[in-house]
Amino acid sequence: MNRGRFISFEGIDGSGKSTQARRLAESLRARGLPVVLTREPGGSPGAEEIRQLVLTGDPGRWSAETELLLFTAARRDHLERLIEPALARGETVITDRFADSTRVYQGAARGDLRALVDRLHEMMISREPDVTLIFDMDPATALARTRSPDRAGSEDRFEGFGLAFQERLRAGFLEIAAAQPGRCRVIDAAGTADEVAARVRDALGWTPA
Ligand code: TYD
Repeated sequence: MNRGRFISFEGIDGSGKSTQARRLAESLRARGLPVVLTREPGGSPGAEEIRQLVLTGDPGRWSAETELLLFTAARRDHLERLIEPALARGETVITDRFADSTRVYQGAARGDLRALVDRLHEMMISREPDVTLIFDMDPATALARTRSPDRAGSEDRFEGFGLAFQERLRAGFLEIAAAQPGRCRVIDAAGTADEVAARVRDALGWTPA
């Protein structure tokens, strides 16, 4: 049996990638393709527990190094228990964030950690998606979206870091896209959900059912 396709959705907070990941999963399922839609941090029971640890509480709760270990531990569990078995069964896996988020968020929060991020990835994860869609938009607009009342919640440790941080994240994602053009496609995330969904389909080379 052929291995399934592994697709990651990446971008700054509020870029709309979660909505688009869901829409893509729904449209592939409507065509009869088996799809696993998942997210990071999380996606497996153990990784969801780690999610609570890293996304809630005071912004200074963890050192950058501890946080990197927690994200990597969550990813390893997610990969072992959900992603790899699904790909081996021939299912398409769509994940809302994967290793590029660690490169960019933990690298942007503390630039000197980037080498450590890469070494840990190589040792413990060592897998890249087949395709990564990077949702790109103006951080001020994205930040305003994250502050809309329908998103109110407690998982806001990173959103609390403000606009300058979001600007660094955007630059970090675009750098990855430029460095790995074979894997990454940049999606203009401005506009309506329908417009962005059409760009996603174009980027993947899929036409609507
Ligand atoms: P989430 O609520 O999923 O945000 P979004 O809807 O924007 O994806 O929270 C994930 C947060 O965790 C987000 O702010 C990015 C951050 N993050 C990291 O800092 N490193 C990582 O490796 C991952 C996967 C996420």
